This record gives sequence, C-alpha cells and structure tokens, in this order.
Amino acid sequence: MSLAAIRKSLMSVSPSAPSELVIVTRLRAAGCVFAEDEAQLIVSTAQTSDELATMVDRRIAGVPLEHVLGWVEFRALRVEVDPGVFVPRRRTAFLVDQAAALISPEAVVVDLCCGSGAVGAALASISDRIDLYAVDIDPAAVRCARRNISAPGRVIEGDLYAPLPGKLRGSVDVLVVNAPYVPTGAIRLMPPEARLHEPRVSLDGGVDGLDIQRRVASAARTWLAPGGHLLVEASELQAHETAAVFARVGLIARIERSDELGATVVVATSPA
Ligand SMILES: C[S@@+](CC[C@H](N)C(=O)[O-])C[C@H]1O[C@@H](n2cnc3c(N)ncnc32)[C@H](O)[C@@H]1O
Repeated sequence: MSLAAIRKSLMSVSPSAPSELVIVTRLRAAGCVFAEDEAQLIVSTAQTSDELATMVDRRIAGVPLEHVLGWVEFRALRVEVDPGVFVPRRRTAFLVDQAAALISPEAVVVDLCCGSGAVGAALASISDRIDLYAVDIDPAAVRCARRNISAPGRVIEGDLYAPLPGKLRGSVDVLVVNAPYVPTGAIRLMPPEARLHEPRVSLDGGVDGLDIQRRVASAARTWLAPGGHLLVEASELQAHETAAVFARVGLIARIERSDELGATVVVATSPA
C-alpha cells in the first residue's frame, strides 16, 4: 500500500491520528521488515486514534502483529487470535488441504489441539455439512475457537480425546491435529514473537517433539471409523518418526510435503 493510501486510511480513523510516516518510521526502526504493510493493516483495523496509538506501541514492543490486530488471514478466512493464543501459520493451510481431500460431505471431523480453531473453521468453510468437533486444553484457546467455530457446543476444553462425547468412539472419519511439536530444547531458539508471546503448551512437544503425537496415536484407533484418517502436521525432520509411531499402532502412514508452503503432513489411515 502506498503512503498516500495509508494517509487516507489514517484520516478515516481520525484527522489527529499520528502521521503515517511516523508509524512506518517507528515500525521500521523497531525492526519490522514489512513496515508499510503492517502500518496498513494496523490502520485499517484500528477504530479510534487511541486504539491506533496503542496498537502501534504494542507492535513496537514486540507483540506479534496478529495479536496486535486480533486476527490473521488463514486460507482466505479472517480468524480471530487472542493474546496468548497460538497464531495459525500459513503452512498449516497444507494440513487443511490434505484433510479436505479426504472429507466426504457429512463426515465426522475432529480438530484436536485446535488453538484458535483455524483448521476446523477452514474445513467447515470448505464443507459446511461436516459434523465438526474441536478440542483444546487451554481455556484461552477454547474461548477464541468458540468465536471462530460457530457451531454451538462443538468446541470443548480438555486433554486430547478426554472431553469428546463417547458416541464418537469408532466413528471419526477425519482426525486433524496440529499438536505442539517443537522439541523442548529448541524452544529457546525460536523467534521472540513465538517464544515470548505464544504459550508453552502450544509449542512444547517434549524431548524429541513427539510426546503429544505419540499420545494422539495411542488412542487414534479407538476413535477413528474403519478407514478413517489421522492427519498430523510435522516438521520435515520428524515426519519419518511420526509415520513410524502411527505404523506401530496399526495405521497405514504416508508423508505429504509442500515445498511451496514449507509444510509436511503425515497422513495415516485406519484399516477398513
Ligand atoms: C501448535 S498449536 C496449534 C493450534 C491450531 N491447531 C493451529 O494450527 O493454529 C497446539 C495447540 O495444542 C494445544 N494443546 C497442547 N496440549 C494439548 C492437549 N494435551 N490436549 C489438547 N490440546 C492441547 C495447545 O493449547 C495449542 O493450542
């Protein structure tokens, strides 16, 4: 967006709002590489000049842009993201694509470790008749997901499968999971925006990063329908071990990769 367009947006917030040049300059000085784009997003989201000033200050203090805005674009959806909730990554669109390819119109779909609910919301936007459930252990994530997934009562707080209704046992067609998968020792190497602003429970996958995936795998066959699918986002380095974990519980696993999105998904199928 040009500075002239940013100026026009600013004037619609308030004629006394800080000059666009000041915003871009401050963002740039704070190390924001895409300062003009960020300024445009902040200006178009702020409702008042006070809110605009607060948003710029928070961004300069290192708060992730998505937490400053309160939303992120994910697969053409505007997904709300509250402070302290994991920010959906662009690469996770690949998990959605892989799951969407396996979903029939009225499939039972569970988004486990749903965070903001971005994955479930994206699947529901592709196929609005799916029977969708979403689970997260973090109350802040659950509150956020309940705004992004409109189906009442379908976003549930709890530990993995524990809060799911018993009637779903043996009938889940697609179980889609973006669980925490960062090895504990690698968290300190993450960018500050993740390390300092996203909750540890959303990142920490244990010593090798696979603790939650192993727990997901161990009960997957209890919940999957015959021929049902489990899809998990993984890092490229972990994917073979994740696939081996799934094979050990009797699932037939394959690895899918998108170089464009830098994304890896392990797709496992329960025997029919
Ligand atoms: C990497 S984030 C992914 C969030 C979302 N699926 C996405 O792609 O944006 C992992 C999420 O798993 C949740 N989580 C971690 N351990 C969990 C558990 N035992 N049961 C349910 N959710 C859990 C965290 O709270 C966090 O929201």
